[in-house]
Amino acid sequence: MTIKKAVIPAAGFGTRFLPASKAVPKELLPIVDKPTIQYIAEEAIDTGITQVILVTGREKGSIEDHFDISFELEHHLRSKGKSDLLKLVQDISEMVQIVSVRQKMPLGLGHAILCAKQIVGNHPFAVLLADDIVDADPPCLRQMIDVYNDLRKGIILAIKEVPRREVYQYGIIGGKKVGNRLYKVDALVEKPSVEEAPSNLAVIGRYLLPPEIFDVLESLPPGKGGEIQLTDAIARLGETYPIYGYRFDGERYDAGDKMGFFAANVRFGLKHPDLGPRIAAFIKEVAEELREAE
Ligand code: UTP
Repeated sequence: MTIKKAVIPAAGFGTRFLPASKAVPKELLPIVDKPTIQYIAEEAIDTGITQVILVTGREKGSIEDHFDISFELEHHLRSKGKSDLLKLVQDISEMVQIVSVRQKMPLGLGHAILCAKQIVGNHPFAVLLADDIVDADPPCLRQMIDVYNDLRKGIILAIKEVPRREVYQYGIIGGKKVGNRLYKVDALVEKPSVEEAPSNLAVIGRYLLPPEIFDVLESLPPGKGGEIQLTDAIARLGETYPIYGYRFDGERYDAGDKMGFFAANVRFGLKHPDLGPRIAAFIKEVAEELREAE
């Protein structure tokens, strides 16, 4: 049975993006002209996901609104004859079946996933972090589900190589290469020190999980930072379940981090069909000024 449901957790505080994230969810900050979370939802849809489960929380209602019908706005655009913009707005609300659940307190990523238990039910499912953009063709999640459909069982984690000095920011895997881009995972450590890290292969925000993960999450004590950590639950489930790391083909941006967000804006800006040439000209102008100032 292939994977048709995806959970997108978006209930975190977003402290790395303060002050911007104080009253505006970081997941709605735009990469060029589209909120980060829309890129994530589009990846799920382009992969063939038929139900997206958003995990939202306090001060995050605007995320639900973004994917909902906006009656007044549509009426306004229709009456002004702005059919292109009307289509743009309507397309978002018609994208896919979106269900949302609330995480009453942001107690960690693992806890956010647990909030989706009833809606996911007894099926394997995908998780896409709402602030982790992967620019890839085919989409990163599609690549992972293709691997899953071959293996037919197990947990699959998207992984990428990171510089050793950055391992403390990620969940890091240890394991053996068993295919072109595939690793059989035998260790998983959340935010290790350089000395503790079993490799420099980091887990990024895409996961394929079996429903048994919910039972583990229900009995899991808080881990690093006092949060219910998804990585800890996966490591525990890995005692009885195979875990694979898949080194996806694509470029990843951590849009929940100021620098990652900026890099994504530059890269997607350069590729933007209308703005791309103007953005390129502007970047060249700035680069020239910087060179002259050296
Ligand atoms: P992050 O660790 O990037 O989110 O979680 P955060 O906690 O909001 O960020 P910082 O570290 O304070 O800046 C990855 C994703 O998981 C969600 C976040 O909203 C983000 O999209 N998340 C995190 C939850 O839904 N609930 C949580 O309790 C924690």
